[in-house]
Amino acid sequence: MLLFSSILRRPGAMAVQALHGRWQYRWRPERTSSGTAILGAMSNSSPTVAVTRVLPGDALDRLAASATVRLWEADRPPTTDELIALVGGIDGLISMVTDQIDDRLLDAARGIKVVSQMAVGVDNIDVAALTARGIPLGHTPGVLTDATADLAFALLLATARRIVESHNALRAGAWTTWSPTFFTGLELSGSTLGVVGTGEIGRAVIDRARGFKMRVLATSRTERPIDGVTYVPLDRLLAESDVVSLHVALTPETRHLIGRPELAAMKPGALLINTTRGPVVDQVALYEALASGHLGGAGLDVFDVEPVPLDDPLLALDNCVTVPHIGSATMKTRTAMANLAVDNVLAGVRDEPLVRCANPEVYRTE
Ligand code: DGY
Repeated sequence: MLLFSSILRRPGAMAVQALHGRWQYRWRPERTSSGTAILGAMSNSSPTVAVTRVLPGDALDRLAASATVRLWEADRPPTTDELIALVGGIDGLISMVTDQIDDRLLDAARGIKVVSQMAVGVDNIDVAALTARGIPLGHTPGVLTDATADLAFALLLATARRIVESHNALRAGAWTTWSPTFFTGLELSGSTLGVVGTGEIGRAVIDRARGFKMRVLATSRTERPIDGVTYVPLDRLLAESDVVSLHVALTPETRHLIGRPELAAMKPGALLINTTRGPVVDQVALYEALASGHLGGAGLDVFDVEPVPLDDPLLALDNCVTVPHIGSATMKTRTAMANLAVDNVLAGVRDEPLVRCANPEVYRTE
């Protein structure tokens, strides 16, 4: 049990800022054995909001101006027990993709009015459990669209043009001369991109593909007409695409959407880009498809288990470009996500509708 009375109380400004690309506190907080600090309003009437990581920009300042902030300060996520200890008596919670939010946590947070996730994806949260309790769930779509689409395209280019592989080869001394066939890859112009999921991020990837003169096929639950895009069933998309990029949320329906049969249905030599959630792809089957040479390459930002274990066989493949879940990781986007998470949590603790709500059915009255 945490003794919050013994935790640092520092009313007023709490400022975190980026200087030369590094996070710095304007003040040096005293750290407690629990890894928690209390910041901000402190009056008896102010709501209490727990935040599971230090937020970028001025988001914590903004929150601390209106709420007492119980901040998990460590540069690692709280364990389940630490999270349970953090949430007792709170009115609102700002969570990250690394936090498991389920009935057990909600029982510990009895009286909580809102959960506000600093991410668009909410697959770490038992949304049905929140809805059953009438608790709105905030999330952060929109503000991360361009950053995530950029990263998908960066992986696409890196994989198509074998950037990481050739970079490593150069440094290993394998560049002995110019050669007509050295590190030849896929030319995007005239190639076919298959986009699975045409929500905001899928559409932003399509915008980028247009600039690279790619033909675009798409498959989606909701077929919104998009200039120059042909909607086709998934099997046809897989059979015709040189590159397949995934942009569906992880749900029970999309878990292993790309499994062994779907990978086998992809064009020989095709590339797979995954910037959504690892379990949308069967990772073992993906390894086999890459190792056998059936697929030409993969660009992955997300994995079944994160951080991906260093002995994962995917990490030994030259044709697999891997980055550590950085789709939304620009300073501009992460700051906007933090601010939207603050806006959502403040609306929730004030019993106002959330700015972006992942379970709007909580507002239905019948
Ligand atoms: C999201 O928003 O769901 C991302 O995966 C976190 O950056």
